[in-house]
Amino acid sequence: MSAIELPESEMPDAELVQAARAAAEQSYSPYSRFAVGAALRFADGSVVTGTNIENASYGLALCAETVAVAKAMAEGVRGGLEAVAVVGPTADPITPCGRCRQVLNELAQLGGTDPVVLCVGAEEVRSIPLSVLLPHAFGPASLG
Ligand code: THU
Repeated sequence: MSAIELPESEMPDAELVQAARAAAEQSYSPYSRFAVGAALRFADGSVVTGTNIENASYGLALCAETVAVAKAMAEGVRGGLEAVAVVGPTADPITPCGRCRQVLNELAQLGGTDPVVLCVGAEEVRSIPLSVLLPHAFGPASLG
C-alpha cells in the first residue's frame, strides 16, 4: 500500500491529529523556529504526544516523534502502536525524518504492528504506512 491523500475533514483520526497540533504548541524550537508535534495512538485507545526539543548545541535537537516514543516506552509501553500523527508548521505535510522512522519502527516491530503515519498539512493529510516510509527495516527481529 502506498500513500493515500484525504482532506482533513474526512480523516478518521481527527482527535489524534488534534493531539499532535496541541503538542506542537509546546515545542521548544528557538533555533529552527520549526515547531513539530507528534501523537501516537495505541491499541487500547491511549494517546502519547511529543514535540521537538532543541538545544543551544544545535545538533542535539530531539524530534517530536522520538520524544513521543521515548515518553511511551519510559511508561512501559512495548507495543500496540496503531497510528502516528505528525504536524509541522508548513502548509505541506512533513514526513518523519529518517532517524524517527527507525525509532518508530523499533516500537512497531516490538508489538508486531505496521502503524499508519498521518502526515498532516494545512489542507490534506497524507496517510502512509510506516513500512512504506521505512521499507526493509532493520529492527529487533533482525538481531536473531
Ligand atoms: N523535526 C521533528 O521534530 N520531526 C521531524 O520529523 C523532522 C524535524 C524537528 C527537528 C528540529 O527541531 C526541527 O524540526 C527542524 O529540523
